[in-house]
Amino acid sequence: MAGLVLNAVAMGLGMHPGAWRQRDGSPFDYTDLDYYAEIARLAEQGRLHAMFLADTLAVSEENFERPNLGAMDPTVVLSALASITTHLGLVATASSTYNEPYNLARRISSLDHLSRGRAAWNIVTTFVPDVAANFGDASLPKSEGRYQRAEEFVDVVIRLWESWQDTALIGDKAAGRFADGNQVQPIDHHGEFYNVRGPSTLPRTRQVRPLLFQAGSSDAGRQLASRVADVIFTAQNTLAAAQDFYADIQRRVAGFGRAPGSLKVLPGLIPILGGTEAEARARKDELDELGGHAELKKLALRVGVPVSALELDKPLPVDLIRANEKFLGAEGFRSAAMRLSEEEGLTVREVLYRNGGGHFQVVGTPEQVADRIAEWHGAGAADGFNLMIDVLPSGLRDFVEQVVPILQARGLFHREYEGKTLRESLGLPAIPTGRLTPSTRHAAE
Ligand SMILES: Cc1cc2nc3c(=O)[nH]c(=O)nc-3n(C[C@H](O)[C@H](O)[C@H](O)COP(=O)(O)O)c2cc1C
Repeated sequence: MAGLVLNAVAMGLGMHPGAWRQRDGSPFDYTDLDYYAEIARLAEQGRLHAMFLADTLAVSEENFERPNLGAMDPTVVLSALASITTHLGLVATASSTYNEPYNLARRISSLDHLSRGRAAWNIVTTFVPDVAANFGDASLPKSEGRYQRAEEFVDVVIRLWESWQDTALIGDKAAGRFADGNQVQPIDHHGEFYNVRGPSTLPRTRQVRPLLFQAGSSDAGRQLASRVADVIFTAQNTLAAAQDFYADIQRRVAGFGRAPGSLKVLPGLIPILGGTEAEARARKDELDELGGHAELKKLALRVGVPVSALELDKPLPVDLIRANEKFLGAEGFRSAAMRLSEEEGLTVREVLYRNGGGHFQVVGTPEQVADRIAEWHGAGAADGFNLMIDVLPSGLRDFVEQVVPILQARGLFHREYEGKTLRESLGLPAIPTGRLTPSTRHAAE
């Protein structure tokens, strides 16, 4: 199995709703460059592969109780971080439903140039209902429609990124030849949703083009990722479910004629660390106390029922959840919570304990966290993890200082970056130069 991949996710002031009250420092740090810079430096010090920023295009009611987890534009924040890091990958989430491909291709390509080949776009189709009204929509398009649009959107973006041939730039000062216009071609895309002539304003980058991450685990989400993405980010919270997901992705990737290992599967992992297991549990309890009902509200939104339908010491109301045919949210999150509840008979409180924010949560010592990481990685459940740190930056410092050395000592995690670009450090196949990526969209249909 290839080396373990670890990324740091910087959401709000930490993944836990109580983070902003528990941590030292200003509650308003989430708009401060120094805060993000500290996270990036820590991530690079720990040789983490990338820093990942989520995105939300709306303020929700809960954002008056805690910082918005995706308030800042990720591409803007990551551009600033490009200048203080040298190897760290920079992954910017952006919605394919509420952007235009031309602008987005340009923004991410700019980040890739500025970082000398360390950028990735995390494709999401948006699942937060409040977003729709900010873009003139009465409600979110249904999941199926969002993904139809995403499929075309991504193809346009890739073609724009590759619209300059590798040898298009000449830069011959003596002869006065800057670029060869014959090697910069329009893409002339006319599709169901988009009409884009191109070419891109920018030439190819050091890693030819930015990487593609995809976050979404419904059937359509898996299909999109398996066709085009380099990394899929998913919410899994039992080993068996993660193994099923992993195997399913490998089948789909093969169905599209892609090489094994060309799509890395990264579940989210929330490590809650303590010197002893009891200390870790005390930390979790303290955070839950400070977080109030925020976790409960998030769970209600994710499973598509009103918060009043969830009782802490009763099981999840799975029949009610299934009966909601109008569910427009993320299927990945909904099924992760349901599966946990149904297979292990957990109460709502226990689901919250194990399923912080829908992701795999480990409350324990650095050794215990390292054990679970090794277990999932060795059991064909994950190529690595997106670390959803509970409190930032302190939780990341703890992880880097306490968990990373254990993983390195066990030979699981690298001690140095494998290359300068994100594509190289993830060990992904190079894109053959000179070619345009053919559409493989229908190969597995
Ligand atoms: C692990 C994970 C992370 C996600 N992160 C975001 C995000 O940062 N911003 C966002 O708008 N949507 C995010 N989404 C939801 C996506 O918008 C997704 O494309 C869509 O809602 C449907 O997800 P599904 O394929 O699981 O149904 C995320 C989904 C998953 C499973």
